[in-house]
Amino acid sequence: MHSNSESMETLAVHGGERRPGPEGSVVFPIYQGTVFSVEPGTDYHDIKYIRLSSTPSQNYLHDKLAVLEGAEEAVATASGMAAATAPLLSVLRAGDHLLASDCLYGGTHDFLTHHAEDLGWSYTFVDVHRPETWASARTPQTKAFLVETITNPLMRVGRLREIVEFARREGLVTVIDNTFASPVNFRPLAAGFDLCFHSATKYLNGHSDLVAGCVMGGAELVGRVRRTLNHFGGSLDPHAGFLLARGLKTLALRVRAQNDNAMTLARFLSEHQEVAEVNYPGLLSHPDHAHAAELLSGFGGMLSLRLRGGAEAAEGLLDAVRLGYVAPSLGGVETLITRPVTTSHAGMHPEDRERLGITDDLVRVSCGIESPEDLVADFEQALRKVQS
Ligand SMILES: Cc1ncc(COP(=O)(O)O)c(C=O)c1O
Repeated sequence: MHSNSESMETLAVHGGERRPGPEGSVVFPIYQGTVFSVEPGTDYHDIKYIRLSSTPSQNYLHDKLAVLEGAEEAVATASGMAAATAPLLSVLRAGDHLLASDCLYGGTHDFLTHHAEDLGWSYTFVDVHRPETWASARTPQTKAFLVETITNPLMRVGRLREIVEFARREGLVTVIDNTFASPVNFRPLAAGFDLCFHSATKYLNGHSDLVAGCVMGGAELVGRVRRTLNHFGGSLDPHAGFLLARGLKTLALRVRAQNDNAMTLARFLSEHQEVAEVNYPGLLSHPDHAHAAELLSGFGGMLSLRLRGGAEAAEGLLDAVRLGYVAPSLGGVETLITRPVTTSHAGMHPEDRERLGITDDLVRVSCGIESPEDLVADFEQALRKVQS
């Protein structure tokens, strides 16, 4: 067991590791077997089977994930979307009501708008910056409050402390998507959230080469999530789990480099004459800077910007960058650049996009771990080409 006083660098390397490992192995091996022999009298719940997320490789990964979020338990899932849906499917029954942030990741938003009604749930989207509006949105059937640590693509940070206080007063289960922050920058369970989940596809794995998710929290709630996953069939395959555990070992190093790169790039961009706006919570100009500085240990590797030349210049910037890839997704070691209206938010109704400030000219950057000087130099040369 590792104490929370150890640094994230140490926890990422040593947390959850078996010492000694099987056969003395320093690296925990892949147990790819679907099933394991059963001792007479073994309870059904103690069977080792991959879909039940109970094989040795899965248990190892769960321990590692739990340590990183300071959780009693963790369970890995087949994707970030499985990690987003399993907690909701575990805490909500037909007839229940959910309070949800009005700025959720597109997939989570679409899950609610497409499936909640069929499941017998109702929901209300609320502004996570306006605590005074939450009580009137709550109904006697409200059971849970769903939010994200840092939202996409404007990098807003909601009133997370107030959400926890409100939910505790009202007896609601709090569920938070911590994908954008990663446990290096924010630890939701220590802040009082009940369940936290990740698209481990992003920062946790960090190498843009697998799809996975995970849910962390107290033993009782994670146990419920795990049973839901067993029924819906959303466990993570041990091969992908091996890669994820390998990625986790460098999490702290990667995320700190990404924090530094995003801060350097945000400062450079905010002083550039072609740039009209930079959205990064580390900048004093960001509307959430003050409370983000209190909540977070780092401001993350994601930023977005608008150019004076509008959507045409935004497209020109994407054409002109040389170092980063023009691609959606985020959290990998390579810088990724995208226009959210053409990728992550393409499915959203234009009026909803407009309301949330996701305009045609917006460019989102997921900073990688390249040197900050090279990253800035690349944006500098690209911006020269799109001069208005
Ligand atoms: C914040 C957030 N949550 C959840 C997801 C879903 O993750 P996955 O694609 O691994 O299912 C994503 C994917 O982009 C995301 O950005």
